[in-house]
Amino acid sequence: MRDVEWGWLIRYIHSTGASAFFIVVYLHMFRALLYGSYQKPRELLWIFGMLIYFALMAEGFFGYLLPWGNMSYWGAQVIVSLFGAIPVVGDSLTEWIRGDFYISDVTLNRFFALHVVAIPFALVFLVIAHLMALHEVGSNNPDGVDIKKVKGPDGIPLDGIAFHPYYTVKDMVGLGVFLILFALVVFFAPTMGGYFLEHANFDPANALQTPPHIAPVWYFTPFYAILRAVPSKPLGAALMGVAVVLFVFLPWLDRGKVRSIRYRGPLFKFFLFSFAISFVALGYLGLQPPTPAYTMAARVFTVVYFAFFLLMPWYSSIDKTKPVPTRVTYHAH
Ligand code: HEM
Repeated sequence: MRDVEWGWLIRYIHSTGASAFFIVVYLHMFRALLYGSYQKPRELLWIFGMLIYFALMAEGFFGYLLPWGNMSYWGAQVIVSLFGAIPVVGDSLTEWIRGDFYISDVTLNRFFALHVVAIPFALVFLVIAHLMALHEVGSNNPDGVDIKKVKGPDGIPLDGIAFHPYYTVKDMVGLGVFLILFALVVFFAPTMGGYFLEHANFDPANALQTPPHIAPVWYFTPFYAILRAVPSKPLGAALMGVAVVLFVFLPWLDRGKVRSIRYRGPLFKFFLFSFAISFVALGYLGLQPPTPAYTMAARVFTVVYFAFFLLMPWYSSIDKTKPVPTRVTYHAH
């Protein structure tokens, strides 16, 4: 940051970019929940999206070791040692991942290779696959209407609009707003009060001293809170994994007859709303020290979190729904 001209800028763009990427991805995923975009026939599209999310988590995790701060060191220590909870192979697996008996320069080297080459290539491939799957079925819309169903005499779908100029122009507005907010963070609040760059990571890695309070960056804390909420370590690690993976099964858990929140009934709205609250609350709790009161709260929100997924086949099928229009509706504002 200090020895290279503009090094501070490159680093802040990168560290802010990591958080910004997760903000955008979480908004993108929540949009899919609101409008049922994961439902048939978009299962493959949804699965590729989830794989992007997993690869992004891996990318964020591997990248975080690279500045070799004290939180980098101990964060990697906590997460890698979770593999030790796997029966029989756990200990050897942990050693294999680290390449050493503790987080060392060997670990740093391989995380660098994974972060800079392997995962980025996987991400590029997955994004292409995601777009190809999207192109096959067409985009969803806030009505949840299949835009390819009604075609004009020329065979062109009547409810679709051309990507250019409509979406190219619309996306430029979004991009402009995004870049303004992004620049504000990079130039005026690069650590974002410790949320984008944690204070403990300004201390160099020290194998002999843990930071007073270990917590991952905010985008991992909902899952970290679930890990800590469960008293048994192996069960906590397993539940954390399940919490992430459950999203993949949404197309099959959702038995709703309509896609969009516009035409869903009160039950789905209630569960989706409680899920959103539990996700944010767990995210907050994962950042706090685990006092007994906070741990209790994390347990309650963990139950709410899982209820959204596990009860979905029930509430989505009995929910009252409103009739879906046959064509995309449009109301000028
Ligand atoms: C989805 C894309 C990416 C994400 C989410 C991501 C995330 C991160 C994070 C969180 C850090 C720690 C930042 C810090 O504390 O300063 C980091 C560091 C780093 N990343 Fe990435 N990264 C991504 C892509 C890449 C790519 C494509 C490259 C190289 C071609 C790269 C190279 C590096 C390097 C060299 C570091 C260490 C420098 C530093 O700590 O500032 N990253 N990354």
